[in-house]
Amino acid sequence: MKQLEVWNGARGRGIFKVKSLLKFITCGSVDDGKSTLIGHMLYDAKLIFADQKRALELDSKLGSNEGEIDYSLLLDGLMAEREQGITIDVAYRYFTTSERSFIVADCPGHEQYTRNMAVGASFADVAVILVDASAGIVKQTKRHARICALMGIKHIVLAVNKMDLIDYDRYIFDEIADEFKALCAQLEVTSVQIIPVSATVGDNVTKKSAQTQWYTGLSLLGYLESLEVGAQSINSGFIMPVQRVCRPNPQFRGFQGEVQAGTVAVGDTVKALPSNEEAVITKILVTDKECECALQGQPVTICTDKEIDISRGSVLVKDFQPKVNNLITAKILWMDNHKLVMGRNYFLKCGTRILPATVIKIKHREDINTGKHINAEVVHKNEIAEVDISVSEKLIFDSFKHNHFMGSFILIDRVSNMTSACGIIEHDIRRGNNIIWHETAVTREFRANQKAQKPLTIWFTGLSGSGKSTIANAIELRLTAMHKHTMLLDGDNVRHGLNNNLGFTEKDRVENIRRVAEVARLMNDAGLITITAFISPYSEDRESAKKIIGSDNFVEIYICTPLAECEKRDVKGLYKKARNNEIPNFTGISSPYEQPVNPALSIDTTKLSIEEAVDMIIDYLNLSRN
Ligand code: ADX
Repeated sequence: MKQLEVWNGARGRGIFKVKSLLKFITCGSVDDGKSTLIGHMLYDAKLIFADQKRALELDSKLGSNEGEIDYSLLLDGLMAEREQGITIDVAYRYFTTSERSFIVADCPGHEQYTRNMAVGASFADVAVILVDASAGIVKQTKRHARICALMGIKHIVLAVNKMDLIDYDRYIFDEIADEFKALCAQLEVTSVQIIPVSATVGDNVTKKSAQTQWYTGLSLLGYLESLEVGAQSINSGFIMPVQRVCRPNPQFRGFQGEVQAGTVAVGDTVKALPSNEEAVITKILVTDKECECALQGQPVTICTDKEIDISRGSVLVKDFQPKVNNLITAKILWMDNHKLVMGRNYFLKCGTRILPATVIKIKHREDINTGKHINAEVVHKNEIAEVDISVSEKLIFDSFKHNHFMGSFILIDRVSNMTSACGIIEHDIRRGNNIIWHETAVTREFRANQKAQKPLTIWFTGLSGSGKSTIANAIELRLTAMHKHTMLLDGDNVRHGLNNNLGFTEKDRVENIRRVAEVARLMNDAGLITITAFISPYSEDRESAKKIIGSDNFVEIYICTPLAECEKRDVKGLYKKARNNEIPNFTGISSPYEQPVNPALSIDTTKLSIEEAVDMIIDYLNLSRN
């Protein structure tokens, strides 16, 4: 067996040999026998302790396997798993044979745990996918293979389990093998091994089985012990995303982070991105010890010979030129219960940077069974899609094909803070780098000063018929009387012009609000006080609007007139139509309205007159003194 040389920088310059490490993931549908398979592997390889073995035998007498050893008990470590009879989380196990060390991520099989499977896959070199020989390849097998390929796994093993139940029938095995090979070819995975096994009986788990004379390959463990996966990026350029700039005193300034790829030594010239400034390394600390060099995986502090522009999220590189762009095309696995809607704002985390980002286009989603591209306006949980993403600032990245770390990211929901998707970057979009912001000679400040006012956006939100437009009109009149310069954007009016191509689906409303926010911001740039009156039913979109306009200039006013009152007024007769199912997606009736959690003001028009509401707003804005 080949051994990998590891250079131990932390302990100085000593060189020692370790057994090569293989990280693999097991996946399969429920009851395919994953836990039993790994349990059997550990048991046969004498990798469990004597007392564990005794406990296992005792447990099995009481358990589900009629006195035979139930190997799955060995792996079902979590109590909840044992109670539910399924593996619910990613469980990492470590074991070593005479040939190799292993880490295995045992992932749950249920579709609702696809998220856990993706997490496990992101760490693995090899995937062992199980199928039940009597059931053959099922949708979940295809989903797992697709996610493994998406996450960059290059080696897949298909363990065709429960061969004993089909009398070791070679014909059935070959059929399954052919179908799986075709799937892998489509996914461009070329290292594929298909092994007939029985996890309970032990055929081809750690030893070749006499029952499958026709199978000429290695046992599963034998195969995993001998598989060459290649030492990842040992020879690539140096990359270190900066997690922290450490400045304990005026004499010391160090950049801390983990070396993601390559090696670096004192005296090397490194480049900081995105500033592109260069400096020479004067000192390297690995944990708290000074070293001449550092290598992949080590947490380091690096000092340079001169002050260069570096902050958290910058990347230090040597012999490596990543891409820098704010428009990317990516493949994502959507993991959120809420569907992905184009135009909505998320946080994108790539390396150590977290930036606001928007999916500007869903190019297609993939059919799990066939891989065919399907046109889609939304993406649901557990679906894979290709999308274009616009990031608020230049992202430093590489395509996933070249560099797994620099080419992968997650999307985070801005409200719940949950991971909504994981993704891999395919390439950047050229126009992202070809559109350059031009500073104007007459500035926003100049225009504001000329009008002697602070530009603002007063954002009214509330149900249709709540009184938004009426109050917005009244406030504009009052402001004009105060010699303020204003502009009113009203939902019904804007939908006649700029937004006449938008309807009332969630996707269209997101776009409606995005455009209005952009226009409001332009009006503010022009020095105007902008007043908007839109239902704007989704809190996330109002948050995005605030982001676009700038939180200092954004005043959210909730016209909280109750639905019953709005419906009673029914000025436009629309509620009646909505109740008669003549208008689909009508806010408050067949489409949601998410109340603001912390608006600047809430105004209930059943309790306040228009004049009182206007007074309250003017008072709040403190405009008379401005
Ligand atoms: S928003 O939800 O995208 O913010 P907007 O404020 O632009 O909506 O438009 C709302 C106005 O459109 C309502 O006051 C009403 O007159 C009209 N309208 C027509 N269809 C609908 C609908 N399905 N839901 C809500 N308003 C509708």
